[in-house]
Amino acid sequence: MSFDVPKNERLLKWVEEVASLCEPDRIHWCDGSQEEYDRLCAQMVEAGTLRRLNGERRPNSYLAWSDPSDVARVEDRTFICSISPHDAGPTNNWVHPKEMKETLTRLFTGCMRGRTMYVIPFSMGPLGSNIAKIGIEISDSPYVVVNMRIMTRMGKKVLDLLGDGEFIPCLHSVGAPLAPGREDVPWPCNPEKYIVHFPEERSIWSYGSGYGGNALLGKKCLALRIASKIGFDEGWLAEHMLILGVESPTGEKTYLGAAFPSACGKTNFAMLIPPGPFREKGWKVTTVGDDIAWIKPAADGRLYAINPEYGYFGVAPGTNVTTNPNAMASCAANTIFTNVALTPDGDVWWEGMTDEPPTELTDWQGNPWTPACGRPAAHPNARFTSPASQCPSIDPEWENPKGVPIKAFVFGGRRSSTIPLVYQAFNWSYGVYLAATMGSETTAAAVGAVGTVRRDPFAMLPFCGYHMADYFHHWLQFGRINSNPPPIFSVNWFRKNADGRFIWPGYGENMRVLKWIVDRANGRGASVESPLGWMPRYDDMDWEGLDISRERFKELTSVDRDLWKDEIIAHEELFIKMCDRLPKEFLHIRELIISSLWRSPEHWEQLGEVHAEGWNE
Ligand code: GTP
Ligand code: SPV
Ligand code: MN
Repeated sequence: MSFDVPKNERLLKWVEEVASLCEPDRIHWCDGSQEEYDRLCAQMVEAGTLRRLNGERRPNSYLAWSDPSDVARVEDRTFICSISPHDAGPTNNWVHPKEMKETLTRLFTGCMRGRTMYVIPFSMGPLGSNIAKIGIEISDSPYVVVNMRIMTRMGKKVLDLLGDGEFIPCLHSVGAPLAPGREDVPWPCNPEKYIVHFPEERSIWSYGSGYGGNALLGKKCLALRIASKIGFDEGWLAEHMLILGVESPTGEKTYLGAAFPSACGKTNFAMLIPPGPFREKGWKVTTVGDDIAWIKPAADGRLYAINPEYGYFGVAPGTNVTTNPNAMASCAANTIFTNVALTPDGDVWWEGMTDEPPTELTDWQGNPWTPACGRPAAHPNARFTSPASQCPSIDPEWENPKGVPIKAFVFGGRRSSTIPLVYQAFNWSYGVYLAATMGSETTAAAVGAVGTVRRDPFAMLPFCGYHMADYFHHWLQFGRINSNPPPIFSVNWFRKNADGRFIWPGYGENMRVLKWIVDRANGRGASVESPLGWMPRYDDMDWEGLDISRERFKELTSVDRDLWKDEIIAHEELFIKMCDRLPKEFLHIRELIISSLWRSPEHWEQLGEVHAEGWNE
């Protein structure tokens, strides 16, 4: 034991129980010190799990290559084990908790033999914030320990704060016990995987994977699945949202929360750098968080949000000095890279980092790679784990325990057609509807087919720890109890033309949409009524320094009646699934959207440049 553990009877008892179940060779209580981090990294370099990168190019940084079977979250192996299946709802896998505990107890028996069991105390949220929660992760993976030290506030200081208070137990094993004398592999894991949540008991058991959200249990498991259930019970929100701040030329500060599904651009949007003309005028964007927001109503009637995390677990491919210079700066040092490629001089590379790929590399599976070889050098879900404090755009209030006041919510998926660039919901209920029916083309962040549209309500489909329709009610309730709930917007950066190219330049240029949103949220900003909500006309947006024709703007913002017919039918498929608890509001709003879509094109033309093309039957 590296220090005296405090007297928390429940914690000591749990650690003892887990140790006798898992039979580790040793127990190590993590103090969270730099010395402990360095020692574990050195140990993993020795074991072949990590490679130390070139200290001049990438100071204090490491590269891990996972087992090729363990590269992303496993949604089909993720379970919400509430006592009643109706409380898990139709979008979650469910097994009765008693049966699941039996399965897990069998799997965890002796699962840490030959290994060290690490006890990792961590806080999601600033230490001592009334929004923060303490978790204790027990894991047999030193890779998890070092990643948790970057992603959360971790170590002895958390135990000191905990005292004999409440914590969320999070048990993790890679599921690869070592027989005496048997040599370890660089990335131990098990083909059988279970990511299990007990929402009533508020505990997490994860078995068989060492990767990302499967193993860093503070993130998706605690901060979203368990926290969403706690939030439902206690009257707050745990969301798959980035939080950013916008400072206008007059010094007005506007914070907003934006939910996009996995690998759909939260990190990019959170760290947006405004285009030159905007910067010159004095617009500035700051980052509070890039993945998760915990949001609570405060006494002043406003909603306040914190980022419960302490680091970024960001998608590497596609990140470069043009698309996201702030992310590049964040991972310039003190970073753990996973599943990116290694350059001959000991640095990292991934698809999209540079225009020209290096002439030779070692790919994420450790094989020699050349540009002609036809394989990607980095896995599409390769990630960097970096301290949030290293982000140049970090907001001065990012560690404020009270959080920041949210003035708008934004929802956006990856849609190559149908969904316009931006619109504002008519009111809170319309906004909840648009978020609930959000769809997105699937990406490599989850295992499964890439590129088909799936409904991903609130970007929470894989992360809601209870019945999704109850979650919709919970959101509707916020509109009832709040005298002035924030306006809700829909965005889509991903519309494509007939050649399959993105129509919208995206990235920094998203500032143009963001400015319109901020203006609307502050009671300014012209717009016109469309069948879906309020939309900007061409002249309602600031185009300085960007050449977007009126024609192109039409392509980006048109609402096609035939496509919307299919869209509404897809909403209905989602609604049928959760018909037992669906909010009645949704059926009314659906009908109102249909009736607006079927108004004559001339009606909408009269209102402005909301586009009638393609509406004729
Ligand atoms: P998780 O960490 O998985 O929750 O996802 P995230 O939403 O933070 O993902 P991230 O920001 O890393 O998304 C990366 C992907 O979004 C890459 O494929 C980017 O190229 C793409 N992307 C981000 N912003 C834009 C944009 O404005 N336009 C386009 N076309 N692509 C974008
Ligand atoms: C996501 O998939 O939404 C992530 C990455 O943020 S992971 O932590 O692996 O879930
Ligand atoms: Mn995420």
